[in-house]
Amino acid sequence: MAHECSSSLLGWARGGQNGPHAVERGALMDEEAARRPVGDAETRAANRAWWDAEAEDYYAEHGAFLGDSDFVWGPEGWTEAELGLLDLSPGLTVLEVGAGAAQCSRWLARHHEVSVVASDLAMGMLRTGATVSRESAGQVPSVPLVQCDGVSLPFGDDTLDRVFTAYGVIPFVADSAAVLREAHRVLRPGGRFVFSTSHPVRWAFPDDPGDRGLTATTSYFDRTPYVESVGGIVTYAEHHRTLGDLVRQVVAAGLVLTDLVEPEWPQRNTATWGGWSPLRGALLPGTAIVVTRKPGT
Ligand SMILES: C[S@@+](CC[C@H](N)C(=O)[O-])C[C@H]1O[C@@H](n2cnc3c(N)ncnc32)[C@H](O)[C@@H]1O
Repeated sequence: MAHECSSSLLGWARGGQNGPHAVERGALMDEEAARRPVGDAETRAANRAWWDAEAEDYYAEHGAFLGDSDFVWGPEGWTEAELGLLDLSPGLTVLEVGAGAAQCSRWLARHHEVSVVASDLAMGMLRTGATVSRESAGQVPSVPLVQCDGVSLPFGDDTLDRVFTAYGVIPFVADSAAVLREAHRVLRPGGRFVFSTSHPVRWAFPDDPGDRGLTATTSYFDRTPYVESVGGIVTYAEHHRTLGDLVRQVVAAGLVLTDLVEPEWPQRNTATWGGWSPLRGALLPGTAIVVTRKPGT
């Protein structure tokens, strides 16, 4: 997540979001990166096209860190094997939303006796996932891939035991409350929705892995989205909510908040990912993992 004009095109991919928190102009005057309002439809169209186009670059840059069939919750590098946030048991049905190339789902299929489906809005990301599956056939189980929007899932009410995403969907939709309501709808009573996202406090700081990224320059309370556009057409959008906003959305969706994990930067991780780095990780939270449950048994 570097943050200069169009830098999220280069650095986000779990690197470019969070906005530069300052308006910067690109070399071409019609390229712009700004904090400004953007609606639901424009956000969806822009992010779908952006992730379609950026899929290969994203995995060229981050594939080694993420692994073909590993389940990493965020740039800190903590895995589901270590955190156990999904509380899995044999026979469960699991849906990954905003799955990208579905490496998390492949890890689940490999290590747990669960039925797992991976979904994403962007065909480019799913295509990358299909390529990984093809190339690792025989070593890594493939998983079904479904193209769908995280706010409108093609699954019936009360049909799934777990829904999750590692950095997918939530920051990339204008209405994250709708994602939570949809997760609540498809979950069986007692099911879990777990999602990781950039820690909201990061929006107060420049998206810079070095010293510049340690001084707050924007109000944490400013919910104005980060928007990139070319010639007035929105090409990328990311939305900010405070931690309180997220908790309020969880509660409004009818889910119960069971944990809010702020993973610390482990010493073993010397990698920089966009604005995430060991320097900042030692001082500031980079990721929030929200663990929720649908009431019932
Ligand atoms: C930062 S990537 C994370 C991908 C993957 N979870 C990972 O850990 O590598 C964000 C993903 O969210 C997806 N996404 C964005 N908006 C979405 C939406 N409305 N519904 C479903 N997926 C969406 C993007 O296509 C992209 O694959």
